[in-house]
Amino acid sequence: MRIFIAIKLPSEAVENLEKIQSRLKYYAERGHFVPPQNFHLTVRFLGEAPPSAASDIQSEMGFAAKFSPLEMSLQHMAAFGQSVVAVKLKAPKELFDLERELSSRLDKLGFPPENRRFTPHVTLLRDYSFGLPFAEIAKNIAVFNKPFIADELCLFETKFNRFGPVTYLELFSVKLSK
Ligand code: 2AM
Repeated sequence: MRIFIAIKLPSEAVENLEKIQSRLKYYAERGHFVPPQNFHLTVRFLGEAPPSAASDIQSEMGFAAKFSPLEMSLQHMAAFGQSVVAVKLKAPKELFDLERELSSRLDKLGFPPENRRFTPHVTLLRDYSFGLPFAEIAKNIAVFNKPFIADELCLFETKFNRFGPVTYLELFSVKLSK
């Protein structure tokens, strides 16, 4: 199974991301838009793992309950390389602490370390092309940056569908409940 760990976003953040995405649609000549029900903040990508690994991963995720809910906000749109448009998030130090602890626990379970620096973001669009330079587009799209609270860390399995976009199946979740 293909799995990853992500922070679930509250509905007000999803709605704001959807508004940004709908403005992006106006400029995109092509691309795969992430369906709003799939929006998430990836904390650690794990890749392929046997189903038997799930219970060890769950045990290692339990520490997150000692964290308080996180106050975050949408910061600005960014293009990552030539393939992804995302919204970067303004996040507290505690999110970075949580990511560091989670990663070190998962490294110990034998998962390959991330080869990219942790940059809190939500992906909106992949494999895009625009008729205008991205910087021009970004100037024309407002990012609603009202703070929101996120309080759930989830283990997701990516389910590939023959027709239509992938779905993310929630296998386990832990509330940040300090
Ligand atoms: P991102 O879109 O938040 O950047 C589920 O597939 C999530 O895992 C994706 O949304 C993506 O995060 C992340 N992901 C997918 N493939 C990855 C890879 N090879 N390395 C790191 N993260 C990956």
